[in-house]
Amino acid sequence: MQATKESTRAEERQRAIAETVARVREIESQQGVNAQSLEAIKGELIKLAANTDLFPIDDFPPPEQAAGNPSCLYLLSEDDDHRFALYANSTNRRYSNAPHNHTTWAVIAGVHGKEPNRLYKRTDDGGVEETGMTVVKQGTAVAFMPDELHSLDIPGGAPMLNFHMYGLAIPQLFKRQYYNAREHSWHYYPPHTDIRDARSGSIETGSSKTESGQTA
Ligand SMILES: [Fe+2]
Repeated sequence: MQATKESTRAEERQRAIAETVARVREIESQQGVNAQSLEAIKGELIKLAANTDLFPIDDFPPPEQAAGNPSCLYLLSEDDDHRFALYANSTNRRYSNAPHNHTTWAVIAGVHGKEPNRLYKRTDDGGVEETGMTVVKQGTAVAFMPDELHSLDIPGGAPMLNFHMYGLAIPQLFKRQYYNAREHSWHYYPPHTDIRDARSGSIETGSSKTESGQTA
């Protein structure tokens, strides 16, 4: 009985994801990449995230405590040409990352828990200045144009699962930059992170895992 319930949930989840991604493709195709189209994509991901019963944290567990990375990304959808990549970011630990861009559009939508995002602009001296913060949680989302900057500042102490969707899959983003405040310098992120393929109904935790200190 339990297996039937789980397979039904996986099937419903895959159907809901496919429908959302189809609408996102359509939005970008018709409107291009701009603030208005990203607002529409945010709306689609907020609607998908409202289906909390399809995305229980138990199906997308955070990395084991012994793992190097405090968070991991579950790949939910990616086109054959690596466009329109949807991930679920899972963690239950405190972590933050450096201000960074994505070199493709990005939308984050809340499913479970809170994900504080710090927002930045570049300064004339080659650094960054924080311009605000938005806390992504159920019912909310934040969007970034390819050159816009943010960082995550996750408090930990409670499970968190959020959607991260990108115009192009993370392993394809070779020019993604982060800012090292101590050295006042910009660096490229390494191309791989802890990404676990969850596109099939059964998720094999860690089955396609690669290691680096990179986060989304
Ligand atoms: Fe990011």
